[in-house]
Amino acid sequence: MTGRLIAFEGGETVGKSTQARLLAQRLGALLTFEPGATELGARIRSLVLDAADLSLSPQAEALLMAADRAQHIAGVIRPALEAGTDVVTDRFIGSSLAYQGFGRCLGVDEILALSLFATGGLQSDLVVLLEVPVEAALSRQASPSDRIEAETAEFHRRVLEGYRTLAEQHPEQWVVVDGNRPVDKVADAVYSAVSERLGD
Ligand code: TMP
Repeated sequence: MTGRLIAFEGGETVGKSTQARLLAQRLGALLTFEPGATELGARIRSLVLDAADLSLSPQAEALLMAADRAQHIAGVIRPALEAGTDVVTDRFIGSSLAYQGFGRCLGVDEILALSLFATGGLQSDLVVLLEVPVEAALSRQASPSDRIEAETAEFHRRVLEGYRTLAEQHPEQWVVVDGNRPVDKVADAVYSAVSERLGD
C-alpha cells in the first residue's frame, strides 16, 4: 500500500508552514518541506535563498529547485510513500510552477516537464492552496528574509495570480482554502477539504 502525498502551496506569509504541520499531526503523516529537506537540499536552499549575490539566472534557479526536488523525492518522499506513510510537504511542484513558471516567466509547461523529470513522474494526490487577498499578502512582506522574498511586488503578484490560475485549471488536484482567518479555523477547513477529497 502506498501513502498519500499532500502539498501545501501559497505565497510567503500565509501561515503555510503552520498549517502543514497541523495537518501532518492530525493525519499522523510525515512532515517535510522544499527546498532544503535533504543534506544536499540544505546546501541548495542556501544557494538559492541567501542574499549573497551569485547573480543566479532564472534558469539556474529553476534547475536548482528541480535538483532539490529530485533528491527530496529519492531520499524522503518516495521511501515514505512506499512504506505506506502519508506525506505532507510544505511546497512542491506548484511552487516551481508559480515562482519560476509565472514569477520568472519561464513557462509553466517547461517548468512542469522539469519538475516531473525530477520526481520521475510522481505528483501529489492533492495540493492545498492557502489564499489570502493579494494586497494583504503583499503588504505583509515588509521585511524580506531571503532573496526571493525580496523580489518586486510585481513578481509576487505574478506568483499569487499564477497560483490562482493553476488552482482554477486543475480543480481535480487543487483545493483552495481561505487563509485569512484564525489558525484553528483554517486548520479545520484544511482538514475537511482533505478528508472530503481523499476520503479520510
Ligand atoms: P519557504 O521559506 O516557504 O520555505 O520558501 C522558500 C522560498 O523558495 C519561497 O520564496 C518560494 C521559493 N521556491 C521557489 O521559488 N521554487 C520552488 O520550487 C520552491 C520549492 C520554493
